[in-house]
Amino acid sequence: MMISLQNISKTFKTGQMRVEAVKDVSLDIKKGEIFGIIGFSGAGKSTLVRCINLLERPEKGKVIVDGTEITSLYEKELRQKRQSVGMIFQHFNLMPSRTVGENIAYPLRKSGMAKAEIKERVKELLETVGLEDKENSYPGNLSGGQKQRVAIARAIAPRPKVLLCDEATSALDPATTQSVLALLKRINTETGITMVVITHEMAVVKEICDRVAVMENGIIAETGDVARIFTSPEAPVTRSFVESVTGTHKLAKLLEEGASCVRLKPGQVLARLKYLGSSADKALISEVSRLYNVGCNIIFGNMEIVKGSTIGTLSLIFEGREEDIKAAVWHLSQNGVAVEVIKR
Ligand SMILES: Nc1ncnc2c1ncn2[C@@H]1O[C@H](COP(=O)(O)OP(=O)(O)OP(=O)(O)O)[C@@H](O)[C@H]1O
Ligand SMILES: [Mg+2]
Repeated sequence: MMISLQNISKTFKTGQMRVEAVKDVSLDIKKGEIFGIIGFSGAGKSTLVRCINLLERPEKGKVIVDGTEITSLYEKELRQKRQSVGMIFQHFNLMPSRTVGENIAYPLRKSGMAKAEIKERVKELLETVGLEDKENSYPGNLSGGQKQRVAIARAIAPRPKVLLCDEATSALDPATTQSVLALLKRINTETGITMVVITHEMAVVKEICDRVAVMENGIIAETGDVARIFTSPEAPVTRSFVESVTGTHKLAKLLEEGASCVRLKPGQVLARLKYLGSSADKALISEVSRLYNVGCNIIFGNMEIVKGSTIGTLSLIFEGREEDIKAAVWHLSQNGVAVEVIKR
């Protein structure tokens, strides 16, 4: 394990107010993995992750990073150990009065590295993040995506073993988000660095994470491989995140609004189909329609590729004789499609 959190609790007290931000959370993160932490605002994600480098000190529990229990270290040892954990933030936190090169060099200078060596390393990092031509620019003259690239270069400069990313792409547009996530993924693959990625977007989890923990009200509601979380979410909060990507919440909204496309006539059945893996490649809808003489009126569909497996969802209205619809549903389920009857 690269990171092991054991029974971590963190309470904030401001005046009369007490907020239990993290409640008895335990979590293991493996070496080299990209581990996602997702949850709604206020769930406790930042607080939990800030416990990994003790930016936030938990009042209970142990934090073990790369074999060292850092919660029991003294200040000096802790400062040294902290160098093995880098961090990036939503708003980049660059030093505005220093150039890109100086920003990246900063942690190296603090570590006492020789000047010539720093120069070499900064050049190498600028190449890694694709900003060779920006060494002498100031952060104020860079785009959001470029700023985050500088922040990434600075964070990985001392070759940390862990990189914590707190909403690192939340201030970026979708295309820039993609390119920054691709950069993080490449750094993970090339250096084997362990990454912890906080996000409130399932799309980010889908894009780069190996495993994910879903947080709610200071606890972890569910942990699992990303593919498993997407195909069979267990906790309600996980479902709502998965549905935000697969679009199934749209169906609930249409029903709520009483939209005409989901109003049923006698003999019609509204269903939601979930395709997993190879079932998504077959022409199953036309097959059942033909075999059982059942009408299939598609309301909407969606398809996602998660870790190489296809996950499709399809909302549709079956029309026909009751036993024919039953047979069609049975045929679909025999072929790896989960059918959920919503309304009849
Ligand atoms: N320094 C602090 N002082 C007092 N309360 C705090 C402090 N930091 C966080 N909290 C509270 O702890 C709870 C968890 O906050 P945290 O920032 O960890 O949530 P989060 O999941 O990161 O949310 P977001 O997605 O909005 O960043 C919230 O109720 C928050 O108000
Ligand atoms: Mg946060």
